[in-house]
Amino acid sequence: MLDSWNDPFAQFANKTNTKTRTTANDVINKQSLKKPAARTAAKRKTTGINETEAPAVKARAPRAGDGIVSNEQLMTTAGAAPQVNPFIDPLESNDKVNDIDLSGTGLEEIKIGASRIQVDDKKIINCRADLNQLVPFKYDWAWQKYLDGCANHWMPQEINMTADLALWRDPNGLTEDERTVIKRNLGFFASADSLVANNLVLAVYRHITNPECRQYLLRQAFEEAVHTHAYQYCVESLGLDEGEIFNMYRELPAVARKAEWALPFTQHLANPHFHTGTAENDQKLLRELIAFYVVFEGIFFYVGFTQILSMGRRNKMTGVAEQFQYILRDESMHMNFGIDVINQIKIENPHLWTAEFQKEMVTLIREAVDIETQYARDTMPRGILGLNAPMFEEYLQFIANRRCSQIGLPEQYSGVSNPFPWMSEVLDLKKEKNFFETRVTEYQTGGALNWD
Ligand SMILES: [Fe+2]
Ligand SMILES: [Fe+2]
Repeated sequence: MLDSWNDPFAQFANKTNTKTRTTANDVINKQSLKKPAARTAAKRKTTGINETEAPAVKARAPRAGDGIVSNEQLMTTAGAAPQVNPFIDPLESNDKVNDIDLSGTGLEEIKIGASRIQVDDKKIINCRADLNQLVPFKYDWAWQKYLDGCANHWMPQEINMTADLALWRDPNGLTEDERTVIKRNLGFFASADSLVANNLVLAVYRHITNPECRQYLLRQAFEEAVHTHAYQYCVESLGLDEGEIFNMYRELPAVARKAEWALPFTQHLANPHFHTGTAENDQKLLRELIAFYVVFEGIFFYVGFTQILSMGRRNKMTGVAEQFQYILRDESMHMNFGIDVINQIKIENPHLWTAEFQKEMVTLIREAVDIETQYARDTMPRGILGLNAPMFEEYLQFIANRRCSQIGLPEQYSGVSNPFPWMSEVLDLKKEKNFFETRVTEYQTGGALNWD
């Protein structure tokens, strides 16, 4: 028997809750003793199980922990999944839980014997078909992006940061303006990628009702974690003040502005009482997807990416630049996935894409160009490495034209061209190029496990 002195669970179990004067053991005993009898009686009524038909497990339907029971018994109780957990009551249709709507989440009750999912049952939003079945695929583009994302897998520790550290430590290695650009971008992205990840997990995922899209969203969420890791890795490798970098978006208005702009969009969707299904709410979702995928990831990231990558092109901070290269490749796919989702929602719900809504989205994108142009000015007021704020203004207008046409809006800025054509070459980066020459650690997928 376990000694309660050494057993942390025993200590927890005997700890008295000072408010209710109960212990954890009391709670467990109440739960395990009170419910099964009543539940079993109710189940007998519906399943017809009695002692003669179920000799192996007397007086109640089989539960987890009963050991092996006959297949017949299991089949009789199939579909009663909540009952296998002895401590948690299933949701019941009474007044207490009527406000919990699980439809379209994938967490609904399992319907044994329900008809099989057909491709036509699937919808990108407001779908009522089972969301736990990945196939048959309807949106091949989503599945393909999931596969492409996995094929592009990388980790920050694979990139050699030695030269960056030497340059950073060298008092003549970088100008003050260059150091400011690096720190401000690390500051912006370090919190921006966490914001994107939180938006995905707490807001977007719930409202996209398609398993292959959700599969990509899960991949994207992991990639956002890798990106935040990459910024942390840069901060650690260069010995920067992590408090200064990670708090920058609360201390520097130039860094905070973009996150402040994006937050209200996601706050709507993360509200647990928000549900799609009306034209007004479906438009809120569409607006949020445009704000995050087209603007935040599609416009707000591009000044920072260009600044850091142009340093790498001049052989400065090559490790940081390589981290940003891989991030940019991921981000480009995130944005393209978001654009496919937006266009698919438009195809399936054309009533949402009203003239008024389109006008509002044009204003949104134009406003975003102004905010990002301001960021370019704030991060490099004197210009560095042959770059200056007016070049960024043109670049952002060029990008915004492309984003508009990608979602079916008219281009907004005539006569602009791309002042940084090399940025599109970076997007074509193949993993093999440069990758094995610069990585410093053996890849440890599975290799870290020791089976001996
Ligand atoms: Fe990211
Ligand atoms: Fe992203």
